[in-house]
Amino acid sequence: MSTRSSTALFLFLITISTFPSMLKSTVQVKYSRDPVRRTEGQPLTLKCTAEYEEENCGNIRVSWCLTSQELTDPDRYLIHINETKIGGNRHRDAFITFTQLTVNSTGFYQCKAVCQHTGTTAIGHVISVNVTGDANKGLKTLNRSDRHSVDVFLLAISVFILL
Ligand SMILES: *[C@@H]1O[C@H](CO)[C@@H](O)[C@H](O)[C@H]1NC(C)=O
Ligand SMILES: *[C@@H]1O[C@H](CO)[C@@H](O)[C@H](O)[C@H]1NC(C)=O
Ligand SMILES: *[C@@H]1O[C@H](CO)[C@@H](O)[C@H](O)[C@H]1NC(C)=O
Ligand SMILES: *[C@@H]1O[C@H](CO)[C@@H](O)[C@H](O)[C@H]1NC(C)=O
Repeated sequence: MSTRSSTALFLFLITISTFPSMLKSTVQVKYSRDPVRRTEGQPLTLKCTAEYEEENCGNIRVSWCLTSQELTDPDRYLIHINETKIGGNRHRDAFITFTQLTVNSTGFYQCKAVCQHTGTTAIGHVISVNVTGDANKGLKTLNRSDRHSVDVFLLAISVFILL
């Protein structure tokens, strides 16, 4: 093999061995694609995992968004963050818990991670959250006297059926 072709082979090998790491980005976000269905008042927590290289990314900011708007209102969302170092990478989990899930919580949510060093941003796919009204809500909020009248009404129905 001539020196020239072995040099070319050498460069080729370097190229294919570095290619996968070139494809891997500084920061990426991962979370479920499954659409979420809930009834109002039920609990809901969404989890997003941001994987980033501390060296290139620096500190990171991970947030959940609704139509590009970051969700920060502490009365409506509880945010929990934790992080684990895995080799030279870090995995940061961002959990968002809805304090009160209402029909208005319905929408398309996505997670975003921003490197504070470089501004490099990873924006995930949108997931659909569909919250429907609670059909039993009316009955649940009945007060004692109302409930009593419902009981009497049901009693009347059962007497009627027995007859
Ligand atoms: C964060 O905490 C949760 C619950 O304790 C755990 O399951 C998860 O692995 C943690 N994530 C990271 C990135 O440390
Ligand atoms: C939903 O949003 C509308 C308009 O912003 C508001 O008038 C209504 O009270 C909200 N409903 C609930 C259940 O939060
Ligand atoms: C939410 O689910 C209900 C019941 O299945 C459906 O009728 C409605 O179209 C859905 N809404 C959205 C915004 O996906
Ligand atoms: C509870 O009952 C009282 C009187 O019986 C009534 O005025 C009031 O509106 C009721 N409250 C609800 C939430 O239905």
